[in-house]
Amino acid sequence: MTDPLYTKDIDLDPIRKCRLAILGYGNHGRSHALCLRDSGVRDIRIALRDGSPSRSKAEADGFEVIGLDEAARWADAIALLAADEAHRQIWDQHIAPHRKPGQALILCHGFSIHYGLIEPPADADIILAAAKGPGGAVRQEFEKGKGLIGFWAVHQDASGHARELALAYLAGIGSGEVGIFPTTFREETVSDLFGEQVVLVGGMVALAKASFDRLVAAGVSPRMAYIDCVHEIKYLADLIQARGIAGMYEAISDTAEYGARQIEDAIAGPELRRTFDRAMTAIEDGSFARRWVETYEAGNAMTADRARDRELPVEAAGAELRSRIYGDAK
Ligand SMILES: NC(=O)c1ccc[n+]([C@@H]2O[C@H](COP(=O)([O-])OP(=O)(O)OC[C@H]3O[C@@H](n4cnc5c(N)ncnc54)[C@H](OP(=O)(O)O)[C@@H]3O)[C@@H](O)[C@H]2O)c1
Repeated sequence: MTDPLYTKDIDLDPIRKCRLAILGYGNHGRSHALCLRDSGVRDIRIALRDGSPSRSKAEADGFEVIGLDEAARWADAIALLAADEAHRQIWDQHIAPHRKPGQALILCHGFSIHYGLIEPPADADIILAAAKGPGGAVRQEFEKGKGLIGFWAVHQDASGHARELALAYLAGIGSGEVGIFPTTFREETVSDLFGEQVVLVGGMVALAKASFDRLVAAGVSPRMAYIDCVHEIKYLADLIQARGIAGMYEAISDTAEYGARQIEDAIAGPELRRTFDRAMTAIEDGSFARRWVETYEAGNAMTADRARDRELPVEAAGAELRSRIYGDAK
């Protein structure tokens, strides 16, 4: 296992001396911009599409907002923190035609490079500076003097200094306070997609929905079913994050542990393994990425799925609980 690097090992000058355009002001874009400014990066501009709803937020935070074409002409480095599925359009229409020669491209997910949605010119440093976790947490941890675990990789090193830029960027957003590890674009992309599909989002949601339905079918009230199969996920996730799986088992009741051990292997049976294999194949052969980007570019991404989800009984149960307990039905 490679040892992590920390802020004390890293020179921040490569990012501090940069004219840096942060393209996108969503969860990661905003957090990165605020943290990098606090870390002494003076020349940051936020690049947004025409009519962007994020313009007022970026300006209220004290940043200058510029258009995408202008950012491509102005910046020494672009941190492309827009939605991955939009990277091909953004690159082809705005960055590639206008980019300043030698401009570096910084990504916090390997998707668009790994799947060839962006074909970088030979004069560009192409680096991955991934703070692992949701964008909001980057800022929350930074404000506590910490950060999210960072991973860096270099796809193309035109300047001979791409590694230094990646490390400086990650240190600037706080990852150097907890540890920065090397990775590759392939590893980060495959692992991130698989984890979110089969555990963090797809797997967890499938278990939550199916278990809620089964309890309600057994005559349990939706409120109680929601608490036991959805609401309490956070407490167990926090325990696993703090203590690991073995530590979580030690922290919960023996009845819960015994029951879970009876069923763990059955859930992870042959059908689940086949589902995992299918997901991994589609990630590795690029068919998942191709399908997703084509779906996005066709303009009919998940509106119907979202509307259907909002109508599910599990959603009504959650909304009712939140409005009673927290006065917030969102
Ligand atoms: N390393 C990790 O663990 C990790 C975790 C989560 C996300 N990420 C990565 O972080 C990046 C950003 O994710 P996020 O969670 O910050 O996303 P987000 O909150 O959804 O923000 C997306 C931003 O992209 C902009 N955008 C979307 N389509 C665009 C287009 N066609 N042209 C210009 N701008 C466009 C949006 O602009 P508007 O404001 O104008 O709508 C918004 O500011 C992605 O590459 C994602 O994979 C990494």
